[in-house]
This record gives sequence, structure tokens and C-alpha cells, in this order.
Amino acid sequence: MLIALGVCGGIGAYKAVEIARGLQNNGHDVVAIMTRSARRFVGPLTFEAITRRRVITSQFAEGANADIEHISLATAASLLVVAPATANIIGKFANGVADDFLSSLYLATKAPVVIAPAMNTNMLEHEAVQHNLASLVARGVHVVEPGAGYLACGWIGKGRLAEPEAVVRAAEAVLHSAGSLKGRKVLVTAGPTYEDLDPVRFISNRSSGKMGYAIATEAATRGGEVVLVTGPTALQPPPAVEVVRVRRAAEMHAVVMHRAPDVDAVIMAAAVADYTPRRTETEKMPKQADGLVLALERTPDILGDLGQWRSTAGRERPLLIGFAAETSAVDAKAREKLRRKKVDLIVANDISREGAGFEVDTNAVTFIDDGTQDFGPAPGRDVPAIRSKREIASELLDRVEAMLARKTQPARG
Ligand code: C5P
Repeated sequence: MLIALGVCGGIGAYKAVEIARGLQNNGHDVVAIMTRSARRFVGPLTFEAITRRRVITSQFAEGANADIEHISLATAASLLVVAPATANIIGKFANGVADDFLSSLYLATKAPVVIAPAMNTNMLEHEAVQHNLASLVARGVHVVEPGAGYLACGWIGKGRLAEPEAVVRAAEAVLHSAGSLKGRKVLVTAGPTYEDLDPVRFISNRSSGKMGYAIATEAATRGGEVVLVTGPTALQPPPAVEVVRVRRAAEMHAVVMHRAPDVDAVIMAAAVADYTPRRTETEKMPKQADGLVLALERTPDILGDLGQWRSTAGRERPLLIGFAAETSAVDAKAREKLRRKKVDLIVANDISREGAGFEVDTNAVTFIDDGTQDFGPAPGRDVPAIRSKREIASELLDRVEAMLARKTQPARG
């Protein structure tokens, strides 16, 4: 496949030569694009000799029709890899600045993008850079984490360009998964629900929506048709995803039950409220001197109803995936949920662990299925690792794809 390799001005630029070679060894054709400052670290001739292609160094190179070259490369490339990615290019990508070939290519291509940041620790940790990286990740860009160690600037810390093999591995993984959900429809729920007591107050929970949004982003990056049914969150939905905003559990129930027959998989990452006020006051409730007793009733169990509907209808599709946020006996409770709700997979997480569960960007999960699929280590045998929600989304979708490949019944019917 044709891979565009963007090289920015960082001391790690020399490692990009190894990345180009690694990609070529895997049978890919590589076109190198060097920014102006990259050329102060490594000469274009080095890349030219390795890739056997003219290195793109300018948007307006003479005689190369280069002013439109970014458009043709944008459509021809199956992947854009940027290594090292400097704070500067990350900022340009995040904000849609197109003042050189590489930044224009980023905007013009629909190919998946992998970036390997490299910079001084303070720069990497700066809120501006972290914000830009987060917005790129939300847009589906894959980030190869920089390593820690001696930096060229004399510091010891995080910011070193990842090893070339790690960048090549990430590129392969993305190429492998790109388009793998083409033709598939996936419904993802995310966030909390708000159950109104009166026009001012509501009952809710700590869900931020980050896990569900990460799944929707990853599914869209893989070419899936995604419906994101989301409770109220502060998150920016990923592009190219149909967003249905709901507030209450009952609304989410109605939307999901209506759309489920048309999709290949329903992934219930939402933290749906289990109780709702028996009645919602139309006027703000006055403060009472001697406390308040609320009368609550159960909300509909969306996943449970989906499982019941699917088994009554004798259907295999859609696949049903639930989440189980627990604080103790995680695996046992998840297994019980899997059986009771008649679903295919439960993603269980122990929210009492630091770095797992609500509000954070990381999670630690165990995938629990009915035991007929031999995925990974047996649940409970290992303490699950803390990983980014995007990484977990990627593993979850690998499993969904494998399960869909096993079930042959089409979505409609
Ligand atoms: O039973 P529990 O609420 O722990 O199950 C969690 C799973 O069920 C999650 O996937 C959640 O989205 C889903 N759920 C639901 N409807 C509810 C409550 C939870 O679909 N009312």
C-alpha cells in the first residue's frame, strides 16, 4: 500500500528513516514528506535513497506539479504516518492550519492518520499540546505514545519519539483495521441519563461519556456506519457519526429499541439511570423544612429488553454488548448479567480501581462472553491492565468484528 510518511523537525527525524525502511520491508510503498525544519536535521537525499521516490519538500516545488500533489497523494495514500510529530504540526492538524504540504495533506486526506509525537517533556505536558492531542484523538487520529528517557535537550522525561518498530507496528494495526467495519452498522450509547425531579433538579451519575465516544470514534475510523445515542455530556461527538441526543432513560430506551433491528451491533456503554422519579414536577419544588423523601421507580432495562426481544424473535443480530461497572466481585456479577440479559459480551470494569471507570481517559476491563469464544486469558486470572479508552475500544471492536464474521444472518430481516 502507499503510505505517506510526514517527517517534522525534531532530533528524532533520523529515526524516521528506519520507519520508512520498516514499512517498506512490510511491502509498502513510502512517499516521504519533509517539513522545512525536518530538512535541517536530515537531508532529503537520505529518504530519497531509501524510498526510491522523490521526497516532497515544498508545496510549490518547480516542475513537479506539486501545488496539486497533496490532493493526488491525499487520495492515493492508504495511511498518513507522521514521525516525529512536533508540537507545531500537532497544533496545525488540530486547528486546521494548512500552510505547508504536510498540513494541507492532513486536511485533504481521508486516509487514517498515525502520529508519533516527540518533544521536550514540558512542551508535551503543556495544556495547549495536550488539548490539541485530545482533539486529534477524538477525531480518530492514532497516537503512538512517546517514550521516556534522555531527551536531546538534556532532560530526562517523557517525549522521546517511540521506537521505529513501535511506529511501524501501529501503522500496520491501523491499516489492518481501516475499513474493517465497512458495510456494518453499529449503535453505540454513551454518557449518563438525566432523570428530572423538577425543572431545576435531576438525578444522574458520574458517567462522562468518554468510553462510548471512544467506541463511536473507533468504529467510524474503521469505516462503520455509526449511530451514537448519547445522554448529556461535555464531549464533542466524532465527525461522520449520526448523533441522537437524549436526556432520560425512557427516551434512550425508545430510540435504541426503534433503531436496533437495523443495526449489526448495539454497544451499550451508557450509564443508564436505574431509577427515575415517579413524577416530574412542572414547578420548582419548594424547600421543605423537615427533609424530603423521593418516590422513585425503575427505569426500563434497555439491554435486558433488547436481549429479550432478540431471543423471542429468534434472531442472531444485532450483537448485544453491555458494560458492567462494579465495585466488587466484578467477574461473577458480569457473568450473571451476561446470562440474565441474554447478551453476547459484557465489558466488565472495576470502578473502584484508580484510573478505571468514570471521568478519566483510561479504563481497566475484562471481556466476558459465554465461554464459547476463546478470547484472551480467562477472566479473573489476570488483573486487567489500565489502558486508554481508545485502546479498549479498539480491542472491543476487534472482538465485535470476529463475532460478526461468525454470525452470517444479515442485519435486516
Ligand atoms: O444491570 P446494570 O445496570 O449494571 O447493567 C449495565 C449495562 O446495562 C450497561 O451496558 C448499561 O448501558 C445497560 N443498562 C441498560 N438499561 C438500564 C440500565 C443499564 O441498558 N436501565
